[in-house]
Amino acid sequence: MSEARQILVTSALPYANGSIHLGHMVEYIQTDIWVRFQKMSGNQCIYVCASDAHGSAIMLRADKEGISPEQLIENVRREHSTDFADFGVAFDNFHSTHSEENRVLSESIYLKLRDAGHIATRSVTQYFDPEKGMFLADRFIKGTCPKCASPDQYGDNCEKCGATYAPTELKDPRSAISGAVPVLRDSKHFFFKLPDFDAMLKGWTRSGALQESVANKIAEWLDAGLQEWDISRDAPYFGFEIPDEPGKFFYVWLDAPIGYMASFKNLCERTPGLDFDAFWNKDSSAEVYHFIGKDIVNFHALFWPAMLEGAGYRKPTALNVHGFLTVDGQKMSKSRGTFIKARTYLDHLNPEYLRYYFASKLSRGVDDLDLNLEDFVQKVNSDLVGKVVNIASRCAGFIHKGNAGLLVHSDAAPELTEAFRAAAPSIAEAYETRDFARAMREIMALADRANAWIADKAPWALAKQDGKQAEVQEICALGVNLFRQLVIFLKPVLPSLAAAAEQFLNVAPLRWDDHRNLLANHQLNAFTPLLTRIEPAKIEAMIASSKEDLATAEAPAATTGNGELVKDPLAAEIAFDAFAAVDLRIALIEKCEFVEGADKLLRLTLDIGDAKRNVFSGIKSAYPDPSKLEGRLTLYVANLAARKMKFGVSEGMVLAAGPGGEEIYLLSPDSGAKPGQRVK
Ligand code: 2FM
Ligand code: ZN
Repeated sequence: MSEARQILVTSALPYANGSIHLGHMVEYIQTDIWVRFQKMSGNQCIYVCASDAHGSAIMLRADKEGISPEQLIENVRREHSTDFADFGVAFDNFHSTHSEENRVLSESIYLKLRDAGHIATRSVTQYFDPEKGMFLADRFIKGTCPKCASPDQYGDNCEKCGATYAPTELKDPRSAISGAVPVLRDSKHFFFKLPDFDAMLKGWTRSGALQESVANKIAEWLDAGLQEWDISRDAPYFGFEIPDEPGKFFYVWLDAPIGYMASFKNLCERTPGLDFDAFWNKDSSAEVYHFIGKDIVNFHALFWPAMLEGAGYRKPTALNVHGFLTVDGQKMSKSRGTFIKARTYLDHLNPEYLRYYFASKLSRGVDDLDLNLEDFVQKVNSDLVGKVVNIASRCAGFIHKGNAGLLVHSDAAPELTEAFRAAAPSIAEAYETRDFARAMREIMALADRANAWIADKAPWALAKQDGKQAEVQEICALGVNLFRQLVIFLKPVLPSLAAAAEQFLNVAPLRWDDHRNLLANHQLNAFTPLLTRIEPAKIEAMIASSKEDLATAEAPAATTGNGELVKDPLAAEIAFDAFAAVDLRIALIEKCEFVEGADKLLRLTLDIGDAKRNVFSGIKSAYPDPSKLEGRLTLYVANLAARKMKFGVSEGMVLAAGPGGEEIYLLSPDSGAKPGQRVK
């Protein structure tokens, strides 16, 4: 037996200011499958992650919600942790970049870089919001495009004509945070001298640490010449203050990858025998892998290895880069309901379906992965339910009925058991090289062979004949053994199915090497259905819920370019006339009821004095007993254009406040107000 490998694995740290969606899940599922394969193969494999908790977007969102950034990141960290756990993503540690370990490591890495002469300083002129008292990143500046004159464009590029420019070129610039006219101001910035590492990076990026297409992309940047990297931001900023530089903070992307180390360090501190240095020393023989999306390759393939080198640490063994998720061949879309949050998926479907589907489509490349919803239903039902689980359900009954659940020794098809055993190294190699699609194909080919063999032997026919009981038992014993082999091979992808199968098989948690042995003269437990088919209606319900997520989300939101959602206060600023045009009235909630098939909506029948109105409102989470709202007065927007929803037409909107979930508060007028009265 070869020595167990020591492996540290990370997935990108999710920003602590938004929900996890299925696009994120591609990476976490991919990483988790790889880690589970390593663990069940007997390697010491440690999987760490953390919340990416710093930066101005988080600071501004906390501000908007009226909570501290610390509260916001802790709330989001908890939400993310639960989403991951419920998808079967089993981190050994899920920490936070806003942690003491990360502060200590970030400061020490920075000081080592500074003392080795890799930090430069110079003055930078940038837009400053005089009202907010802060410098504005490009995405927080809006104005008129200098090329095509489209209004309302971001500080670095125009969405209308595609032009890129400096924020100072924008006409009529405005702060997207306060709406104020920004002024230019100078400030001292700190730069990491990336060009110092040019030779090292040219070698490392061609050392096998990167997929070829990634290495080629990086080579373009290396050939174009490396630039110094601005690693400082001025106060106010939610992050770590730079040592000896009051009012200057590390840019979020400086301490984010250090968060990988910090999460591991935090784990080491509470795990006897786990040695931080053994994994991070310059001469460490441990392996370190970062799973990331193709959009953040520059941070991981240039800045990060250079920082590690400059601070005297080892570099990653490899980056495992994947592409983006599309749904039904298109970018995830909120209005089509294909921007599906992890939680929304979990509310409707078993996570193992998606784990299997992603596995069946993931390979080593950086191509985008398409979740084709029809194919998803078809593949899961046909492969997992129709092929794999079917073997056990076909055979278990005969063993329980005919032999009290005792699985006999069976040599019924030596060539088949040998074929299963012989397939293991190739499947293992596919897992190791992240060619999960090939692993799934090879496993399903074995499942096809097992099913064909059982169909040929037809134990159900033999069971009706006299004197064939021993043969039936041998066939079914082998069938269950082949099922067990398939479960071993699929266990990295389907941990819950494997746990249920282990219970049925009455065996200890299966390890990869267990595929070498067969069960014989072994008592089985009762068979319970291991996995049910996906009903297409569940997919429809999930899409409808995702559309509801959109309908109940706060109105105009803009992405920051980092994929973070920020409220756009410029869009929210309206003239008095626009405000006066809103027909606000007192409404009496005459009837309030659940909407069949909707998770978040209530249907309200409103009496608005001279008429009745039907309104759908996403407030179910706060009002689990809708009858309690009946007879209550509230405020109603009477002249909002009617909206056709899946469940009917919504005529206007009732007003509520609060962050969401249970905390939604329907507004009420003082007593004495009458239905139909206008709000002045
Ligand atoms: O792109 C992102 O979502 C970042 N939060 C990833 C950070 S990965 C690591 F470097 F911390
Ligand atoms: Zn333009």
